[in-house]
Amino acid sequence: MGRLSACTPAPPILALLLALSLAEILGVAAQGSWELLLENAGIASMHTALTHYGNVVLLDRTDIGPSQINLTGGVCRDDPNDLTLKVDCTAHSVVFDPADNSVRTLFIQTDTWCSSGQFMADGTLVQTGGDFDGLSKVRTFSPCSSSGSCDWVESTSETLQDGRWYASNQLLPDGTQIVVGGRGVATYEFIPANGAAKVYLPFLSATNDAQTDNLYPFVHLLPDGNLYIFANRDSIVLNYKSNTVVKTFPTIPGEPRNYPSAGSSVMLPLTASDGYSKVEVLVCGGAQYGCFLNSSTFPTASETCGRIAVTDENPSWDMQTMPSPRAMGDMLLLPTGHVLIINGAENGCQGWNNQKNANLKPVIYSPAAATFATQSATTIARVYHSTAILLPDGRVLVAGSNPHQFYELTGEFPTELRIEAFSPDYLNTANDGVRPMIVDAPGEVGYNQSFTVTIAVTNKPSGEVMLAMLSSPFTTHSFSQGLRLVNVEVGMPTDAGNGEYTIVARSPPSSTLAPPSYYMLFAVNEGISGPAVWMKISY
Ligand SMILES: *[C@@H]1O[C@H](CO)[C@@H](O)[C@H](O)[C@H]1NC(C)=O
Ligand SMILES: *[C@@H]1O[C@H](CO)[C@@H](O)[C@H](O)[C@H]1NC(C)=O
Ligand SMILES: *[C@@H]1O[C@H](CO)[C@@H](O)[C@H](O)[C@H]1NC(C)=O
Repeated sequence: MGRLSACTPAPPILALLLALSLAEILGVAAQGSWELLLENAGIASMHTALTHYGNVVLLDRTDIGPSQINLTGGVCRDDPNDLTLKVDCTAHSVVFDPADNSVRTLFIQTDTWCSSGQFMADGTLVQTGGDFDGLSKVRTFSPCSSSGSCDWVESTSETLQDGRWYASNQLLPDGTQIVVGGRGVATYEFIPANGAAKVYLPFLSATNDAQTDNLYPFVHLLPDGNLYIFANRDSIVLNYKSNTVVKTFPTIPGEPRNYPSAGSSVMLPLTASDGYSKVEVLVCGGAQYGCFLNSSTFPTASETCGRIAVTDENPSWDMQTMPSPRAMGDMLLLPTGHVLIINGAENGCQGWNNQKNANLKPVIYSPAAATFATQSATTIARVYHSTAILLPDGRVLVAGSNPHQFYELTGEFPTELRIEAFSPDYLNTANDGVRPMIVDAPGEVGYNQSFTVTIAVTNKPSGEVMLAMLSSPFTTHSFSQGLRLVNVEVGMPTDAGNGEYTIVARSPPSSTLAPPSYYMLFAVNEGISGPAVWMKISY
């Protein structure tokens, strides 16, 4: 758009206007902005999750030698099985408070390396598997306010039926969670199991190639209650209750997409405006086949995204080219319904020192226009073992990166202890006139219920104000487990006086659309999001 063809020279003023975006004319940054939140979090976050208290659990692994933050209160970790330190007085998990950019240390005993997780309906984080003594562990973290002292609890009674390293978890409509796959493990199981035995899934064996490109499978809960599962280059719809594959999809063109090739995936926003009838999945990036086996060659990462309408009768991959190649990126959904693609490298794949040329520029994908917009660059490389999550204020927290087996604080890709935030353009103060601030909303709703949200906004809304419910995922290794965005049914805003407007909305009709959990509720007016409030959905 706005490109002039060579044979139709434009008058100078018009040419100038066409060359500048509106934001540039107004003198504001056009491609988001970066800020450093904390110079030293003490750990490199391999796994990151936002609690409904608004603080963020950062989790590394344990058998990595000393971190850069000591446990408090003279506590140490005694572990005769630890490969590196038998007595370790440093922390490998912390909770970060975005309100004042501080951290509090947490105590974790067993090895969480390459583990998985998901929030339960009551807001408890369940965290599963890992390596060594952590392989079969089930851990919980019941979050608390930033003045609290909540900490990890490692279950002594509940264990995984199969030890799992590199699995993916998804919250289910009945409030349990499913744990899918893992290294050398072609099964799924449930937490809590409630007596259900693990189930063999042949699809996971079939997608396990020489470089095990089926790890951290992309699992999305579909509105019909089935699971979309993507591994390597293939995907299925699974009825996990009957263990039947109800649909298979064409192989995605291009590179393998899962760990260690390390592309990423999101399910695009589900929306009431089409009766929640259309479901699309986006898969972006990855690494050339053979990269993991032959890492010294640092092949150029995948430059493509595949988009597929899972609900179509004969779905096919619509391939699109990103502005730059990317492996080890993170994909997340913004309240506006855009997809942020952030972090990663332009060459290589996951593994120790297997990457080159950090991709410093995030990209924002518009599902409506099917276009990509390159964002401003950070100065901090985030390669293997980096994470990104959305905060309730609309910023994106970026943490971690460690392509080394231990903490190495120097070199081209140091163990990264800095925490940054990326602010997409919707946060520009130039947009404050249309920014909807939620001043009242119910803290809890049931399914298919009418509820009222009051917003304050300077300029009278000219049309519908969207209400986006976003889950809080567990993010690790390029995939945000359990991420979903539901745009609920809304009526037109009604003027309530004093710059306030009420919106009558309807909560998601079923738990398959939005499993019971805490969600961030964002109001979005003319493409501009305000900060979220937490809203719990329960039966
Ligand atoms: C951690 O404790 C050790 C031993 O007491 C001390 O030498 C070190 O300086 C402390 N590190 C930090 C980051 O406080
Ligand atoms: C690894 O890369 C080298 C150099 O490009 C190439 O000669 C070799 O065939 C590759 N091996 C594999 C297994 O891909
Ligand atoms: C939701 O409630 C509306 C209005 O009461 C009703 O028409 C509709 O059938 C309900 N939907 C479901 C899925 O129960």
